Amino acid sequence: MDKKEEEKLLREAEKVLPRAYAPYSNYRVAAAISTEDGKIFTGVNVENASYGLTICAERAALFAAVSAGYRSFSHLVILSDGNGTVPYPCGACRQVLMEFSPDLGITVTRDKDRLIRISLRELLPYAFG
Ligand code: THU
Repeated sequence: MDKKEEEKLLREAEKVLPRAYAPYSNYRVAAAISTEDGKIFTGVNVENASYGLTICAERAALFAAVSAGYRSFSHLVILSDGNGTVPYPCGACRQVLMEFSPDLGITVTRDKDRLIRISLRELLPYAFG
């Protein structure tokens, strides 16, 4: 894991965290993902009055990157605003990330209080694909 890359992703995630739209859960999340050639895409959670239509921050970041033409990624940072639980990616996001980058490295942190480093394969063993 490249510490410089992780720091950069953390900075980018922090920048967009205020854009999270989370009026229902009041749990704000931002994500930043790096492509294999060093580009960074960010995303935030976007909730909806029809709760199930909510999109998580990491899927928003991934879909922005794929929409821009990128399909292989090296690292993902997920940052929450410190209120509540650590923002481990949900099962749906794990499966969607697996589609593009089974070897993805992930850093999860609640307001940078502690950085948890884990791989996508650890989070989703025996993945379907
Ligand atoms: N959420 C994310 O955006 N990413 C995660 O890793 C965990 C959960 C969002 C979805 C919802 O808007 C809010 O957090 C509460 O579940």
